[in-house]
Amino acid sequence: MQNQFNSAQERLEKMREDALKGGGEKRIEAQHAKGKLTARERISLLMDPGTFEELGMLVTHRSTNFGLDKQKFLGDGVVTGYGKVNGRLVYVFSQDFTVLGGSLAEAHAEKICKIMELALENGAPVVGLNDSGGARIQEGVVSLGGYADIFYRNVQASGVVPQLSLILGPCAGGAVYSPALTDFTFMVEGSSFMFVTGPNVVKTVTHEEVSSEELGGAKTHATKSGVTHFTAPHEAAAIEQAKAILGFLPQNCEEDPIALDYSPSDEKRPKLDSLIPENTQHPYDIREAINEITDADSFLEVQKDYAENIVIGYARLAGRSVGIVANQPAFLAGVLDIHASIKAARFVRTCDAFNVPLLVLEDVPGFLPGTDQEWNGIITHGAKLLYAFSEATIPRVTVITRKAYGGAYDVMNSRNIGADMVYSWPTAEIAVMGAKGAAEIIFRKEIQGADDPSAKLAEKEAEYAELFAHPYNAAARGYVDEVISPSDTREKLISAFEMLENKVRNNPRKKHGNVPL
Ligand code: HXC
Repeated sequence: MQNQFNSAQERLEKMREDALKGGGEKRIEAQHAKGKLTARERISLLMDPGTFEELGMLVTHRSTNFGLDKQKFLGDGVVTGYGKVNGRLVYVFSQDFTVLGGSLAEAHAEKICKIMELALENGAPVVGLNDSGGARIQEGVVSLGGYADIFYRNVQASGVVPQLSLILGPCAGGAVYSPALTDFTFMVEGSSFMFVTGPNVVKTVTHEEVSSEELGGAKTHATKSGVTHFTAPHEAAAIEQAKAILGFLPQNCEEDPIALDYSPSDEKRPKLDSLIPENTQHPYDIREAINEITDADSFLEVQKDYAENIVIGYARLAGRSVGIVANQPAFLAGVLDIHASIKAARFVRTCDAFNVPLLVLEDVPGFLPGTDQEWNGIITHGAKLLYAFSEATIPRVTVITRKAYGGAYDVMNSRNIGADMVYSWPTAEIAVMGAKGAAEIIFRKEIQGADDPSAKLAEKEAEYAELFAHPYNAAARGYVDEVISPSDTREKLISAFEMLENKVRNNPRKKHGNVPL
């Protein structure tokens, strides 16, 4: 005869077994057939082996609507808990599409909220693995309340602990707003999509015919909307990207990012001396400069297919984590436009929130002119970037490689908006505008009245260039701290960021600033 302990133990084991089955073999097979992993398989790719501790495995919903009382699944369609990612504490929730389509209702939301609260109180990141049909239709408004509970906690946690959202299946309706409130979003090509209203509603309302993929697939959000920061060909790759991002960030806003061991070696980078083309109108790829300046293979580009005229991402410099914002002369000449301003501003604020020092590489001809930009609010959106740099209290260093013209010069982390150090290459042109444009305006009458207007223009252009198309006026004012040889850039930056390591700067006390949203 079994003793009482054995039968109690067996009951527990049976419940655990049931919970691990999720929605059952058939639905797991269907999930795999779509090229998707299960909620637990995803967690085991994310967490260090043997470190995951599950919470709330036995939670069930309490609804009786529409026969739900006969469809109870232990865990209620989401696996939650904590564990280690590369040795550091991380909280996770992973929606289980095999259980009622991973749909979210009261109990499911409570589980997510619980780990978000633990993450806030214990200062560690939250990783959300999203794969859900959205609000559980049978539970009605309780499901909407559950989403709102999560959104509220996303906002409370914003800037306190890193929050990452991986979209590994459907994410539709209001459900998209939790990822949108987090720091980084990752999507998988072909199997994940995000939209506020799906193709059917779109067709009814706007008569547009569009597929799910085109409306809200990974490529769309990587190139058109900028909603996703990363895309990956499969789930394992997306999870690796998330782990890489966590490696550049601290656990919370009170800590600094972890610095890796670094042994100093020859820091000269002679290739940089020939990076700028002789013809200053010619493009070059700023990523070559980033890769030369930062530690080998350390650069992780963020939003790489969106607003390509500005490059953002994380890298390491002598083992330390740095955030990089760089104009890209190889795309639209590196001009600042609405999308580039929004992309960079958000990144600057993310770096500042999590104590990641900023390196700015500047080669910018100005803001993009035109009715499209003006009517869509380049004034407000450009101001976002100006605001973000100005309020950032982390160490920030600028290197002007070539053009630094007009308002864009001010915006791109200039000395006057609080850059700690500004270096310039000898090829820099720091002026109100390019020499040709300037000559055409200030010598207009003289040029028009000349026997040979184009010769006069060339003469005046050369005069202006001689006077302004260099870094020495800015250096004379102290706006530029030092004009350096490109090959010395890495050495100078390592030294500068080390010097700034203990920087303390506080903005004036306020409830919060009024960033031009
Ligand atoms: C309850 C749901 C569900 C939901 C899916 N299921 N979505 N159950 N509530 N929202 C169930 C299905 O009944 C099915 O159960 C199982 O999950 C798998 O669904 P399938 O449709 O078979 O899967 P698939 O063909 O892959 O299609 C996935 C899908 C589709 C595109 C997500 O299920 C779908 O369109 N679902 C409804 C989406 C929706 O309208 N959600 C509400 C959005 S509004 P069985 O038992 O057959 O396996 C919203 C508002 C949030 O979310 C507001 C926040 C403020």
